[in-house]
Amino acid sequence: MRVIQSVYGFAGVLGLILAGGFTVSAQDVPDVGPHPPQPMRAMESHIGNVTGHAKDGKMNFRRYCAGCHGDLGDGNGENAQWIDPKPRDFTIATFKCRSTPTGTLPTDQDLYNSIGRGFTNSNMPIWNTFSPQQRADLVAYIKTFSARWEKEKAGDVIKIPPEPPVTLESIAHGKALFTKLECWKCHGPQGKGDGPSASTLTDSKDQPIRPYNFADGRDDSRFKCGSTNQDIYKIFMTGVDGTPMPSFADVIQPNDAWDLVHFLRTLQIHRHSKENEVLAAAHGVIPPYVEKQENNPAPAAQPENKPPSSGGH
Ligand code: HEC
Ligand code: HEC
Repeated sequence: MRVIQSVYGFAGVLGLILAGGFTVSAQDVPDVGPHPPQPMRAMESHIGNVTGHAKDGKMNFRRYCAGCHGDLGDGNGENAQWIDPKPRDFTIATFKCRSTPTGTLPTDQDLYNSIGRGFTNSNMPIWNTFSPQQRADLVAYIKTFSARWEKEKAGDVIKIPPEPPVTLESIAHGKALFTKLECWKCHGPQGKGDGPSASTLTDSKDQPIRPYNFADGRDDSRFKCGSTNQDIYKIFMTGVDGTPMPSFADVIQPNDAWDLVHFLRTLQIHRHSKENEVLAAAHGVIPPYVEKQENNPAPAAQPENKPPSSGGH
């Protein structure tokens, strides 16, 4: 019995190998590097009403992206050694700019936006000369490098409440949160990227990484993941995955998060913004934040020393 099983088992494996060999040559997948040949995953992307196809993205990837990201998508292209921060390794499917919670896959739209936006303070160029179809095809192709895309769906897009008006009180509350949540330990008290922990930080690939310097640049100053107030909101509510920049979704209430956004804008001292106008009208002085009790109806059983997860007050 045991003998027969193992004979059948062997034949089965042999059959698989042969079948695999035929699929590979039929689909013309190049046998690059030491990985076992596999047929390309028939991955798609969906951006609005455009459907991207991996097989159509391959040529543009080889031509325009592989020099940095590598033919295998592992971030080891020939230029990677000269680049800091390093090109993204698509085989681990960890992405910085997401509208989805920390640890989850980004949406196709997130990747599409990243490609068109480029990454400020890095060597990732702005690719805005591709057509929407070509960009969607590239997104689909990027998804062939990790099996995570077959097993997992993108995370649920986080809900962002409408932005409240920019007021001095909102900025003051944001400042209190920046202090309490210790953003300054990395970003520095004035947001110059020079906090006490700044020089010790490394990313998930052990490369040194600097916290964002808010005070740098003028009106062109922007963030890796976009330039709008909504983009900033997303950054600290989803985290910059693969870096020490965490998600604060568990400790900041959605409405309080807007106050933090308003304060962060005042750290961009050279930038023209509504927030800086409001601050200038107050002669540049942010008043101490006084917690409003009626906004914060504490349940009777609330212990005196609130744990950090009980809200951003
Ligand atoms: C000159 C080098 C270079 C080239 C060419 C390049 N990239 Fe990048 N790319 C980078 C670097 C560096 C990063 C990481 C930036 C960072 O972490 O701040 C990156 C990051 C990315 C990301 C990650 C987004 C995220 O949220 O983490 C995507 C997607 C991406 N590149 C797609 C592409 C595509 C598609 C092409 C070709 C059309 C391309 N890149 C060409 C250097 C390059
Ligand atoms: C442990 C260190 C650390 C802490 C604490 C921290 N950050 Fe960061 N932050 C970083 C690093 C590192 C980056 C740069 C990531 C990159 O360039 O890929 C960053 C980037 C950012 C960015 C810019 C992202 C972009 O798109 O370019 C914003 C905004 C930000 N942090 C806000 C905050 C806020 C608000 C807090 C507190 C609630 C905070 N950070 C706490 C390390 C930290």
